[in-house]
Amino acid sequence: MRLGQLSYRYRTTTYRPGTAARVGAILVVLAVVSVTGCEEAPGTVMPGDAARGAMLFRQQCAACHSVEPGLIREGPSLHGVIGARAGSVPGFHRYTGLRSSEVVWTPETLDRWLADPKGFLDGRITTKTVRVNLPDDRADIIAFLATRR
Ligand code: HEC
Repeated sequence: MRLGQLSYRYRTTTYRPGTAARVGAILVVLAVVSVTGCEEAPGTVMPGDAARGAMLFRQQCAACHSVEPGLIREGPSLHGVIGARAGSVPGFHRYTGLRSSEVVWTPETLDRWLADPKGFLDGRITTKTVRVNLPDDRADIIAFLATRR
């Protein structure tokens, strides 16, 4: 009796085309979301647009960072940052955690930093920094920084 009810329910839910189409649509949406979700995980860097990155840098970073060697503002100069050890800019004395880290700045580590500077070293960064939420924006800024070696 119970089995009969179950299989009846199974039939009604499975073979109604409307439901099947809806379930299919939901599965497609879930698949798309999980695929794009993977691509956008911090640390996976797509090739960026350096010209757009320069504009974003002016808007979001230049108040605190220059890209000229030795020019320190609120933050250290980011000239030559890719390939440099984190916390190693001479003359910048307000590092709060980067100097003792073993991090080397690569497009991947920069991407993780920019996605969440406060979380980057488990809360050891206590100065005011800026997070860049969109993966494309991060990629473009990183492409711009790569031109400043
Ligand atoms: C409000 C000021 C401020 C803004 C805006 C800001 N930063 Fe910073 N940034 C800092 C400070 C201060 C540090 C040093 C962090 C520490 O050690 O506490 C830092 C550190 C860094 C470092 C590590 C440098 C090193 O020598 O290891 C990078 C890379 C960086 N910022 C990139 C950026 C980028 C890219 C932007 C724009 C999206 C940005 N920051 C916006 C203040 C800022």
